Amino acid sequence: MNPASVEPFHAISISRLAHRLEGEGRSIIHMEFGQPSTGAPPRAIAAAHHWLDAEPGGYVEHSRLCERIARLYADRHGLSIDPARILLTCGASPALVLALSALFSPGDRIAFVRPGYVAYRNTVSALDRVPVEIAADASTRFQLAASHLDALEEAPAGLILASPANPTGTMIPAEGLAAIAAAAKRRGIRIISDEIYHGLSYVGPAHSMLEFDPDAIIINSFSKYFSMAGWRLGWIVAPPGTSELLRAYIGNLFLTPPSLAQHAALVAMDETDVLEGYHETYRRNRALLLEALPQMGLARIAPPDGAFYIWADVSALTNDSMDFCRRLLVDTGVTIAPGVDFDPVEGHRFIRFSFAVSTAQTEDAIDRFGSWLAQQRA
Ligand SMILES: Cc1ncc(COP(=O)(O)O)c(C=O)c1O
Repeated sequence: MNPASVEPFHAISISRLAHRLEGEGRSIIHMEFGQPSTGAPPRAIAAAHHWLDAEPGGYVEHSRLCERIARLYADRHGLSIDPARILLTCGASPALVLALSALFSPGDRIAFVRPGYVAYRNTVSALDRVPVEIAADASTRFQLAASHLDALEEAPAGLILASPANPTGTMIPAEGLAAIAAAAKRRGIRIISDEIYHGLSYVGPAHSMLEFDPDAIIINSFSKYFSMAGWRLGWIVAPPGTSELLRAYIGNLFLTPPSLAQHAALVAMDETDVLEGYHETYRRNRALLLEALPQMGLARIAPPDGAFYIWADVSALTNDSMDFCRRLLVDTGVTIAPGVDFDPVEGHRFIRFSFAVSTAQTEDAIDRFGSWLAQQRA
């Protein structure tokens, strides 16, 4: 059997070029990756310094962190989750590998919308499951709807969804999630809900799929709201009755996430003022971009409800988003992601901005991008 082919992230090659130009002394604004430019909250970093000296840092899963994460579901969603169902992972990426490996079988069909996070397609393929792409467009703000599931001729075994989503930031309202949960139940489809952007919303709090489907598989992470991408820590909420199976997979495939990250995360979870400060910066950046982009002629955008992305249709300017991003970078230093990473079919006419940068950088990027677009048009 041939190994599954896994595509690279095209944004990585753009980013590599950006770093080369930066090394040559160019001023670069990094908006290509979905990662906060801030670090972990300072008190979390101080805690990590302390624990580095205080303990040997072996293979551990801190039960206090699992209990604290369970409390997050009570605080955010009014849900009572047994902490024994919270299993720590090295981020949402291994949580997805875990869910697909332990709870699905080779050959199972797994659906998700296009545009979507590139790793869904590639992880599903790499694990010998079969990706089923559901094309979503501006009519559903590029999000999944229950009608998409009803329209599938053959029901897939699984469905991955994210609200807020990457690359659009759009969210599925409560009634939409309820309808998706009902449609999935009718057709025997198991849901994986990627809730990694929870906490980062501009239109009211995001709902967890657990509110509508108590058997949903939930994955989440400290990479986004908690600004700890490089600490490699996340979790899965195991569906009832699956904790021991998932724990056995974790033990064999991954062992434990870094103990230092677990100590730091426990502190980070109570640093609300700092984290909401980061959130406020994104809110300002989002407002600036949503005002500026239409004035530059980029009006075809689905205003992001959450996360820190803007997905913009640039078909009036290019049919090759990779070339567009490369030229924009070389001419201006503004680095963004080409749509082809998120949608292999329509992505050639879309770009994605990540606005998890400072407000000064956002303003600078708007100035550079605006002048460049005006030149291109002239
Ligand atoms: C939607 C989505 N899910 C999962 C991930 C992976 O995150 P982690 O750093 O927790 O592995 C990302 C990263 O950008 C993402 O955008």
